[in-house]
Amino acid sequence: MLVLGIETSCDETAVGIVEDRFTVRSNVVASQVDLHAPFGGVVPEVAARAHLELLQPTIERSLVEAGCRLEDVEAIAVTAGPGLAGALLVGVAGAKGLALGRDLPLLGVNHLRAHVEAAQLEFGELEPPVVALVVSGGHTSLVVLEEPTVDGARPGFRQLGSTIDDAAGEAFDKIARFLGLGYPGGPEIDRLARSGDPTAHDFPRPLAGDGTYNFSLSGLKTAVIRELRRLEAAGREVDLADVAASFQEAIVDVQVDKAVRAATDLGIDTVVMAGGVAANSRLRARMADAMERTGGRLLVPHVQLCTDNGAMVAAAGANLLAAGQVAELSLSADPNMPLADLPPDPAGPTS
Ligand code: KG4
Ligand code: ZN
Repeated sequence: MLVLGIETSCDETAVGIVEDRFTVRSNVVASQVDLHAPFGGVVPEVAARAHLELLQPTIERSLVEAGCRLEDVEAIAVTAGPGLAGALLVGVAGAKGLALGRDLPLLGVNHLRAHVEAAQLEFGELEPPVVALVVSGGHTSLVVLEEPTVDGARPGFRQLGSTIDDAAGEAFDKIARFLGLGYPGGPEIDRLARSGDPTAHDFPRPLAGDGTYNFSLSGLKTAVIRELRRLEAAGREVDLADVAASFQEAIVDVQVDKAVRAATDLGIDTVVMAGGVAANSRLRARMADAMERTGGRLLVPHVQLCTDNGAMVAAAGANLLAAGQVAELSLSADPNMPLADLPPDPAGPTS
């Protein structure tokens, strides 16, 4: 059973084809980075127009790479939210056209859930309970994937905590811009930080040790900017690699600590990392060390499955199909679609 997944929630036009829920047949990403780079961030209108131009050729490339034809595809999955409204609408409208034209089931996918379910493409079925750290350009949260309450249903997500201000990727991108690095900033900081000293600057670790699973990043961002201005005013030379490494370490410290603590507190031994920031080499290494110490299991897919891609949408769509959750052709885009579909645990130590 082949499911084709379409992803247009932000600045990547991506189409993937997944076979039988677990096998990637193709995963093609047409990046718009060059279009948005001059603006230092994603311009929603530019993104939507580019999706419109890139969607059809990306579908064709994905079919060629998968070695199949559109006639072989048995369901169409598409990211329905969260994301940029205009960008999402292009993918949703395109998916509806395909589903209607070929009389195929349409599957409306939650982008954040798809980031987590991408792990099944590398590690097989995710067996709940699992703690998931979801860190992307627009989102930072800790959730638990729980057993379905009804036979045949999908597991549910319960929120433990989330950022109270900026998302992790947003902080990486903003600081990279401030340091005069390219866009998107996460990979640039990751690269530069490798030659820097993570202890060179003592940046704050907001909300570390506060007993919740929440995150805060705007204070850290301000502290980095203030430190740079102070050094410049004092006529001191600034080593950007040291700044990048110290900033990254502050983010990684809190994320590793809270994710590992959530697993320990809840007695859960598997942690999944998902989303674009999960591509960060320092976060991956530190989390692997921490999980090794606790004896837990860490699931982090390859970088191409962490950043936005179509295969994760196809996998999440295949899960929806298996649970019989097919969308109507009236499917709309929901820019604010939440990840958690279970109510927060009232006994939990979170906000
Ligand atoms: O999940 P994603 O591809 O798109 C969204 O759903 O937002 O995440 C994009 C974010 C960007 O902010 C980007 O800078 C960040 O992920 N990112 C990274 C790395 N690669 C991508 N952040 C830190 N280190 C990386 N290696
Ligand atoms: Zn994403």
